[in-house]
Amino acid sequence: MDDDGDDIPQLSSHTLAALQEFYLEQQQREGMKTSQGFNQYSIGSIEEDWQLSQFWYSDETASRLADEAVVAAGKGGRIACVSAPSVYQKLKEQDGKDFSVCILEYDRRFSVYGEEFIFYDYNHPLNLPENLLPHSFDIVIADPPYLSEECLQKTAETIKYLTKGKILLCTGAIMEEQAAKNLGVKICKFIPKHARNLANEFRCYVNYVSGLD
Ligand SMILES: C[S@@+](CC[C@H](N)C(=O)[O-])C[C@H]1O[C@@H](n2cnc3c(N)ncnc32)[C@H](O)[C@@H]1O
Repeated sequence: MDDDGDDIPQLSSHTLAALQEFYLEQQQREGMKTSQGFNQYSIGSIEEDWQLSQFWYSDETASRLADEAVVAAGKGGRIACVSAPSVYQKLKEQDGKDFSVCILEYDRRFSVYGEEFIFYDYNHPLNLPENLLPHSFDIVIADPPYLSEECLQKTAETIKYLTKGKILLCTGAIMEEQAAKNLGVKICKFIPKHARNLANEFRCYVNYVSGLD
């Protein structure tokens, strides 16, 4: 075989373009594209998986909740996003502001966010890393995956372990009574919206004087 390259199989420009398009879409799907201009924290960069009860907030709602969390956490505050990855992503878009944030999530695709990702399964509410100290977050924002009392009770255990006091819960309107019973939170006027229309009505609940009323 000679070494002038004539024997190396070549792809047609059409095939090459199709292949490039495939890789581009794949990178976007996985939220891994890091080339210039792509925001790895944009909501939807990791697609909804309905098997995991994933329904992302609209951009406006994620921004409103992120802004609320920053104000509630205060200067240099720590924020925990429990099963609420879009709020984490929105907070990271604002990086540079004076706060720190962790994402507690069951979906390991979010481990692309590095050390701030903490694997979390609500079925084992206190099965958390040792370095996650009790009452070490100024505010915990949580959106449990299921509208059941069992899921809320278990997620509430995690929330109460992590928070210094402030809680912002997003869940179905039908969970109002159970949210009050398990976490002492009250419904807010602000109505969260999702990227897709959901059959269930959602609400936010807090246990402090918030900007969501
Ligand atoms: C109703 S969605 C809330 C997402 C929120 N609306 C957002 O946009 O960030 C429920 C979340 O719970 C997560 N989840 C699914 N199964 C879980 C489990 N066993 N333990 C904890 N979280 C879980 C999903 O991955 C999803 O992020």
